[in-house]
Amino acid sequence: MDGQAQSKDFSVKFTMDEAQPRVLDRMAQGLLGTAMDRPEGRMKVTGTAPYAAEYRREGLVHGMLVRSTITKGRVTGIDAEKVQSMDGVIAVMTGGPLVRNPAQGTAHEAPAQSLPEVFYVGQPVALVIAESFEQARHAAQALTVTYDRADGADVDPATASDTETPEDNVLSQGDIDTAMKEAAFAVDTRYSTPPHSSAAMEPHASVASWTDGRLELHGSYQMLRHNVAELADALGVDEADVRIHSPYVGGGFGAKLGIAPEAVAAAHAARELGRPVSVVLTRPQVFEMTMRRSETTQRLRLGSDAEGRLTALGHEDWVSNLPGEAFAEPTAQGTHFLYGGDNRYFAQTLARVHRPCAGSVRAPGEAVGMIALECAMDELAETSGIDPIDLRLRNLPETHPENGLPYSERGLEDCLREGAAKFGWDARTPAGTRLDGDWWIGMGVASAVRVNALMNSTARVTLNPDGTALCETDMTDIGTGSYAILTQIVGEMLGLDPGQVEVRLGDSDLPKSSGSGGSWGAQSCGSAVFLAAQEIRKQLAEKLDVAADDLTFKDGTVTCDNVQHDIGDLIETPLTCEGTLNPGDTADAFSIAGYGAHFAEVGVHRDTGEVRVRRMLGVFSIGRVLNEKTASSQCHGGMIWGIGSALTEEIMHDPSDGRIVNHNLAEYHLPVSLDVPDLDVVLLEDTRDDQANPIQAKGIGELGIAGAAGAIGNAIYNACGVRVRDFPATPDKIFPHLPETD
Ligand code: MOS
Repeated sequence: MDGQAQSKDFSVKFTMDEAQPRVLDRMAQGLLGTAMDRPEGRMKVTGTAPYAAEYRREGLVHGMLVRSTITKGRVTGIDAEKVQSMDGVIAVMTGGPLVRNPAQGTAHEAPAQSLPEVFYVGQPVALVIAESFEQARHAAQALTVTYDRADGADVDPATASDTETPEDNVLSQGDIDTAMKEAAFAVDTRYSTPPHSSAAMEPHASVASWTDGRLELHGSYQMLRHNVAELADALGVDEADVRIHSPYVGGGFGAKLGIAPEAVAAAHAARELGRPVSVVLTRPQVFEMTMRRSETTQRLRLGSDAEGRLTALGHEDWVSNLPGEAFAEPTAQGTHFLYGGDNRYFAQTLARVHRPCAGSVRAPGEAVGMIALECAMDELAETSGIDPIDLRLRNLPETHPENGLPYSERGLEDCLREGAAKFGWDARTPAGTRLDGDWWIGMGVASAVRVNALMNSTARVTLNPDGTALCETDMTDIGTGSYAILTQIVGEMLGLDPGQVEVRLGDSDLPKSSGSGGSWGAQSCGSAVFLAAQEIRKQLAEKLDVAADDLTFKDGTVTCDNVQHDIGDLIETPLTCEGTLNPGDTADAFSIAGYGAHFAEVGVHRDTGEVRVRRMLGVFSIGRVLNEKTASSQCHGGMIWGIGSALTEEIMHDPSDGRIVNHNLAEYHLPVSLDVPDLDVVLLEDTRDDQANPIQAKGIGELGIAGAAGAIGNAIYNACGVRVRDFPATPDKIFPHLPETD
C-alpha cells in the first residue's frame, strides 16, 4: 500500500489490567505453536529478500562516512578541495545533522556548518559522496582532516576521573555487612566482562530519497515509530514527512534500536543534493559508530545460613559510557528478583570515558549480570558443599524480595529439575576429578532470567471476500520470526491456512507497533494482531446473530450450529479491524519475567587450557510458545552468544586512545560452527502467563543468552578447578592454574 494508513471499519483498544481468558486455547486451526516454516524463509535463503543496501534509485549516489582519528578535541579543517577533483566525487559534507549525534544521544548537538567536536576515535566527522561506493571510499580515505586535540581524555573506566553513582542506582535493604559477617557461608567475589559488539550480520545501511519534501528511507532498523521520530528530530522535519522501510533486517541485537549515523547522513545528503543517497557502514564503522555493550566489573556478595538460604545478597557494578550519554548497562537487573535474602545491597557506578558509545546489546543487564551472579552462586555452592541446583531451589523467594509483588508464571524450578534430569546432572563429579584423554571434563549450571516488558502496539487485520487475510503493522522482523508468528496468530484466530494469510511489516506508514526490542515484540505486536483478529470474529458473529464463542473457524470455514459457511461468503467487501494493546496495571502488579536453566558440559585441555563446549542444554519457560521452531531458534542463538561471551568475544580498546583495535570479524571472535556443539533446547509445554498479555506469551529473544556463559564458566571450574572471573575465559587465564597431571 502507498502513502497514509487506510481506513478501518472497526478498532478495538485494550489495556492489560487483569488476567485474560486463554482464548487461543479454544481455537480449532491448530496452527499456533507449531514449528511452521517462516513464510519469507525461501526468499531469504535464495537471496531475493531485499535488504537496505540493495535498494536502487534512479540517480543514486553513494556516501562514505569519515571517522575521527583522535579521541577528544575539535575538527579544525577538512581539506575538501583535494578530494573534489578525484574521480566521481560529488561533495564533501560536515557539521550539522551529520555529526549531531556521535551515537544515540542528543547531547552533542552541533550548529549547522560548524566543525565537529570529537568524543571518541571512530566518530563520524564528514561524509564524502561520489558516483560509486568505491569512489566514495577511496576519496574518504584520501580526505585530510585536521584536529585540535584536547588533553585529558579518559579512555579507561578503571582510572577515569569522572564517575557517578546516582542515588537512584543504589538500593540498600537491611544490613548486608552484618549479614555477611554472621553468615554460615559467605562469598565476596569480583567478576569482569569485556565490551561486546552486536555484530549483526547485516551492516547498518540507509538509502534515502526525498519526494515533495517527504523522506523515504530504506534502512535496517528495529523500532520504526521511534526511528521516524529520531530521524525527524535530527533533520528538523515533521514526523509525518519521514517514512522508513525495513521489511528485512539481518540482525539487530540492539544496535538497530535507534538510528545510527548512516541514516542521518544519507537523509541529510539526499536533501542537500536533491538526489537519492546510499550510505552503508563498513564493518569497522559498525564497531565504532554503533553501540557497544559496556564492559562491567561486578562485586557479588552472597551470605547464607547453614542450609544455604541466602541472608545477604549484594551486587555492585561498574560500567562506562561517553560523557553525556544516558544509558548505563543495567547489570543487576535480574539479581533484584531472582533470589531471596533479606539483607541486600546494590549500587551502580558509571565512568565517563571516550570510547565508542555504550548502549543496548542483546539482553542489556542480564546478559552480563547473570554471568557474575550465577558464577558467584556456584562459588557459594562449592563453599557450602550444597549441590548448585539445590542451592538455587532453596533460594527462590515467595514474592519479589524487594517490593513484595507476586510472581506471575515462574517456571524456574521446573526448568532446573527437568534440565537436571535430561542433562544427566547426576553424573557430575567434584571439580578436577574427571579426565577423558587429554581433557578435563566438567558440568555447570546457571539459572536464566530476563525481565518481560509489554509495549503499546497497534496492528490492522483485513479479511477479504476471497477468504484471504492481510495483517499490517510497522513491526519489524530482525530474524526473530515476526512474519511467521503473526501469520500463525491470524491463521489460528480466523481458521485460515498460512497460505491464505499475508503479513506486511517494516513500513512506518503502517499502524505503529512495539517494534523489535527488549524481547517485547512477539507478545506486544502479537497481542495487537490477536485483538484485531478477535474483532473480526466478533463482527462476523454479529452478522450471524450469535456469540463469537459459538463459532468455529477452521480451514477457511465458519461453523455455527452445524451450519458451515465459507468465511469469505460472510462478507461482501473487505472487513478491516484494528487492534491496539496497551500495557496496564498487571505490569505493575506482578513481577513478570521469562525463566530458564542452562546446562553446559565442557572439556578443558590439560596442557593448553583450551576450552571446548561439548554439549549444552537450555530449558525455558516462556508462557505460550507461538512457533516452536522460531522460538527454539532464538534460544539457540542466545546460547551461542553465551558461548561467545564465555570464551571468545571481547572488544579490545587501545589503552592509549580508546580506539577499538579489533574492529573486524577476523579479530572479534564470534563462535563459529566448530565452536558450537549440539545445542539442546526444551521449551516447557503448556505454560501460560495469564498476567503477561492476552496471548499469554513471554519474550524469548534475550532469555537464551542470560546465564548461558555462567553455566560454561561453572563447567570450566568443575572440569579443572580453575575459577575464571575475568571473561572471556581464554586459555591464558586457565593454563597457568591447571592442576599437574602425569
Ligand atoms: Mo534489544 S538489546 O532491546 O534489541
